Amino acid sequence: MEKLLNRIGRVVEDAFEAAGYERSLGRVSVSNRPDLCEFQCNGAMAGAKQLKMNPMDIAESVAQKLAGNPFFERVEAVKPGFLNLTLARDTVRSYLVETLQAHHYGVEGPSSPQTVVVDYGGANVAKPLHVGHLRPAVIGEAIKRIIKYNGYKAIGDVHLGDWGMPMGLVIAELERRQPELPYFDPSFTGVYPKDAPFTVGDLEEMYPTASARSKEDEAFKERAQTITQELQAGRRGYRALWHHIMDVSVVDMKKNYDRLNTHFELWRGESDVNDRIPAMLDYMIQHGYAHESEGALVIDIAQEEDKKEYPPCIIRKTNGAAIYATTDLATIEQRMEEFHPVQMVYVIDKRQQLQIEIQTFRAARKSKLVLPETKLNFVGNGTLNGADGKPYKTREGTAPRLGILIDEVEEKTLARIREGNPDMEENEARETARKVALAAIRYGDLANQPSKDYIFDIEKFTAFEGDTGPYLLYTIVRIKSILKKAQESGIDVKAAKLDNAASDQEKALQLVLTGFAAAAEDAYRELAPNRICAYLYEVANTFNGFYHETKILTEADPVRKESYIALLYIALGIMETGIDLLGIEAPEKM
Ligand code: ARG
Repeated sequence: MEKLLNRIGRVVEDAFEAAGYERSLGRVSVSNRPDLCEFQCNGAMAGAKQLKMNPMDIAESVAQKLAGNPFFERVEAVKPGFLNLTLARDTVRSYLVETLQAHHYGVEGPSSPQTVVVDYGGANVAKPLHVGHLRPAVIGEAIKRIIKYNGYKAIGDVHLGDWGMPMGLVIAELERRQPELPYFDPSFTGVYPKDAPFTVGDLEEMYPTASARSKEDEAFKERAQTITQELQAGRRGYRALWHHIMDVSVVDMKKNYDRLNTHFELWRGESDVNDRIPAMLDYMIQHGYAHESEGALVIDIAQEEDKKEYPPCIIRKTNGAAIYATTDLATIEQRMEEFHPVQMVYVIDKRQQLQIEIQTFRAARKSKLVLPETKLNFVGNGTLNGADGKPYKTREGTAPRLGILIDEVEEKTLARIREGNPDMEENEARETARKVALAAIRYGDLANQPSKDYIFDIEKFTAFEGDTGPYLLYTIVRIKSILKKAQESGIDVKAAKLDNAASDQEKALQLVLTGFAAAAEDAYRELAPNRICAYLYEVANTFNGFYHETKILTEADPVRKESYIALLYIALGIMETGIDLLGIEAPEKM
């Protein structure tokens, strides 16, 4: 559906043309003086430069053409040549009603079905999720939802780190502790036990222990390397242990991702492309995309226009091992074959920009694993910092476990909920606190540009006022409660009819609600969930401005009252749709 700015632009362009000027001068933007007008056009200034005229003369002649046009309530030419535009109340209302009748409030989707793969999460099996995994999980999920809302089929893939040295380390550590297990006996041909010889708790302790040991004990490190290679080559006992590690670890991971309301369509990992690698390497060599360099197999990715020198992408190390880029390339090949995506979006720590955006993407293009038109996007996320501005750490100096961070925020929100609702039942209080904590965490993250670092400030994020997730929920809860009362008083909330706004606050609310599709489209184009956050914050503020100025349920004029209810119902729909794109849900009370 045509965006409101374009529609206003068309009217103003017509006026420029009618006054004898170029249409293109009639572009409009949102006013940067909202105290004076809603929209503005600066075209008279540009036109004056071209034509060596006085901008005020142009602005005035265009304003004359617009005088009496029912589309506007007011059009003013002001010095030095701005056109200040204020829409008619009926223009705003009817455009808003049109968006309600359109699919997804007027979001324009692709003309034929198209698939986008979103690669995010990126957890490593055998290692517990820590705070560093929060951002790719939260941002990736929001981006995936935004892509879906924009009409694409979106497939989220967690792309587990499930095939490297951590696996070898854990298996080597288990071998040290329980060498008698059948998995280590090369002559064993029977059926391996169904249950893992360790719990998730054991696993959590084994990896850091083994990792520390490998730094001091060279023989142990070599053992782990050998095991890793043998595992990848298919040794039966190690593969069986690997399955146990995967099962135990993934169950725990899912729990954590669930708590962040992050859900993947695909639980694939590096291991899933193991068998494709030999053929892919052959292909790379045969077509001359890759060549030997100092014993390794590499793809040159440097481009003439580069200002920096980029090292080639190594796809096979001197010792024959496949590495990170190799599995990523094989995964790209697999996704192209299986899903034919038009776009792949990677949400990963921005410190991996060289490996992914430069080396892997360029290697994929050069070796024609993707089509020339396939979009590859790297959304590099910044770091989550503590109050000191440095990466968030525990007192012991390690990155805290993700679960512990979530616990902490839930405790804080539970205390706030209990304080505000002393009579709320325990179960409901906990469920509400869970939703509010989710909003605090996810919004606290998503309100920032993905690439920016931010300080994880629990006090600020859980506050019910200010630019926070709980503030949005609080606003939604307030709207729900008014609508519930209206419904109880006999008004059919869903059928209520929207009237032209009577007050400035009411008009402002109608106007801001026309902008949801534009925000959703911008968020997709820029892969920036922060666009949705900024939009919803503006809606919440505008709603609260209206709410504080207006007696809604006690309004005596039934037409006015019905219109208020209609407006609230629209605001609720848009806010709930918007927070869903962020992966947040609202409680009934808070
Ligand atoms: N497991 C990786 C890490 O912890 C992140 C994976 C990112 N995704 C990818 N396709 N490379 O660094």
